Amino acid sequence: MTEQKWIDHTYDVVVVGAGGSGLRAALGAAQAGLKTACVTKVFPTRSHTVAAQGGISASLGNMGEDDWRWHMFDTVKGSDWLGDQDAIEYLCREAPAAVYELEHWGVPFSRTEEGKIYQRAFGGMTKEYGEGGPVQRTCAAADRTGHAMLHTLYGQSVRNDTEFFIEYFALDLIMDEDGTCRGITAWKLDDGTLHRFRAQTVILATGGYGRAYFSCTSAHTCTGDGNAMVLRAGLPLQDMEFVQFHPTGIYGSGCLITEGARGEGGYLTNSEGERFMERYAPSAKDLASRDVVSRAMTMEIREGRGVGPDKDHIHLHLDHLDPAILDKRLPGISESARIFAGVDVTKEPIPVLPTVHYNMGGIPTNFHGEVVTRKGDDPDAVVPGLMAVGEAACVSVHGANRLGSNSLIDLVVFGRAAGNRVGDQLTAGAPQKELTTADGQNSLDRLNKYRNSSGSTSTAALRLQMQRGMQSNCAVFRTGEVLVEGAETVKQAFADMNDIGVTDRTMIWNTDLMETLELDNLLSQAAVTVNGAVAREESRGAHAREDFPDRDDDKWMKHTLAWCDEAGNVTLNERPVHSYTMTDDIDYIKPKARVY
Ligand code: FUM
Repeated sequence: MTEQKWIDHTYDVVVVGAGGSGLRAALGAAQAGLKTACVTKVFPTRSHTVAAQGGISASLGNMGEDDWRWHMFDTVKGSDWLGDQDAIEYLCREAPAAVYELEHWGVPFSRTEEGKIYQRAFGGMTKEYGEGGPVQRTCAAADRTGHAMLHTLYGQSVRNDTEFFIEYFALDLIMDEDGTCRGITAWKLDDGTLHRFRAQTVILATGGYGRAYFSCTSAHTCTGDGNAMVLRAGLPLQDMEFVQFHPTGIYGSGCLITEGARGEGGYLTNSEGERFMERYAPSAKDLASRDVVSRAMTMEIREGRGVGPDKDHIHLHLDHLDPAILDKRLPGISESARIFAGVDVTKEPIPVLPTVHYNMGGIPTNFHGEVVTRKGDDPDAVVPGLMAVGEAACVSVHGANRLGSNSLIDLVVFGRAAGNRVGDQLTAGAPQKELTTADGQNSLDRLNKYRNSSGSTSTAALRLQMQRGMQSNCAVFRTGEVLVEGAETVKQAFADMNDIGVTDRTMIWNTDLMETLELDNLLSQAAVTVNGAVAREESRGAHAREDFPDRDDDKWMKHTLAWCDEAGNVTLNERPVHSYTMTDDIDYIKPKARVY
């Protein structure tokens, strides 16, 4: 093999990932006068934010009275009291300003008759601290809100001189012995060159890891590369056992049908034609939070009331709605239902099934976006030089369960916070420590190990083994026994990585190698997910343990921290939940039973 050389770059800020949060953070850093690079494995407007449909929450009050405090109450309740209330206050207070900023930058929101931003109902979003019924809080651009946002943010980032490194696959963090992050390594996919990006601050915005599962709404690119980089750097991930199943993935393909469909009046039925959500959530019904709806659907199927020849899915009805409304408000999912389910939504119900959609867990951060870890007695120790935003991060505003449309707002509020933080704290062009030949050697060793691997196991086969294991053993309902079996499947997959065989030895567009590196990334996240789920002996939000059916605030109102070594061994620890708010404008919202 010819000698592999690094091409070195120096920036003030390097953002990894070009979805909504990465672009918003990069934009903020560039606007603050910092030399900013955005490194991304896909073209920015192909990032998974493009697939977000239903909308972005903010208490604008365009469609009836609203208040950021009500939004905060709903988010805390949605999180099943695992969310950090200082961060949730920050999210809900800042949300309206973040949405108006998007509007002024050109996001083509749908409009009311008066020309205001159109807002729709979404699950778990209510008035008057849950007492006043549903509120229309989710700002929408038809059912293509993420698409509209991503294109606008990319345009603004270019306008503000963010430098893009497109189709560069990030490999590892460059960490100092003292635990400071100094930059990242990356592989340029189209010419095979290797790069080191030195920076005063690295911001990880690499999204979720839905592809650890067999059926998910996430793009194939959602392999949580930043999360895995953090684990390889010896840092923990937080609350990874909380995996959100979206109630309405299209049966078979997993393609998303937005919750906005129920927000516009859609409803679910079982094989008896019954609107069963009335039994499970008498008040909110089909607009209960996602964990509640997904569990109800799973119960209906388990009890023999699923639809279809195998009674293994549920019907979502939009056929009673005015076709003009479907055309205006839900054109994207009307098309998806036709293409992926062969259904005309004006005439027939859509076959749907709870499908993996979102990772509440991720890289622990404070509400400035700074990565934190437990250091001795300090559970909130900041990791110098490292930040994280978006689905990759766990701020934690979503706690044990995220409310629909709180993800897009998380992207822009905390992307903006991270941009502000680096703007406040860094000096443009400040000198940086030189990198040495040792920096990045770990990346080369890992890359070359897989590139030259000649075992008998294909990446695709091993990935399927992991995905099936996660799908059946770390699902909507869980028991200790089933989870332990899942942990063993993942451990076995780790061992089987030693027998992996990559057939393409080149460095240029070697998708075989890239998918192997992605699988390696997914495996460590699968390991911390399933082992965190084994350990958490309670039910909270999306983590529903049949053997521990109740929430246990005395023992478990705490964040899980999880580390994973090269062999897939997981070590667990904890951080306290922040049971305080950011200001005196709202009191700590005390835990109570979570009913909808
Ligand atoms: O259903 C949806 O449109 C998804 C929204 C979200 O996950 O926030």
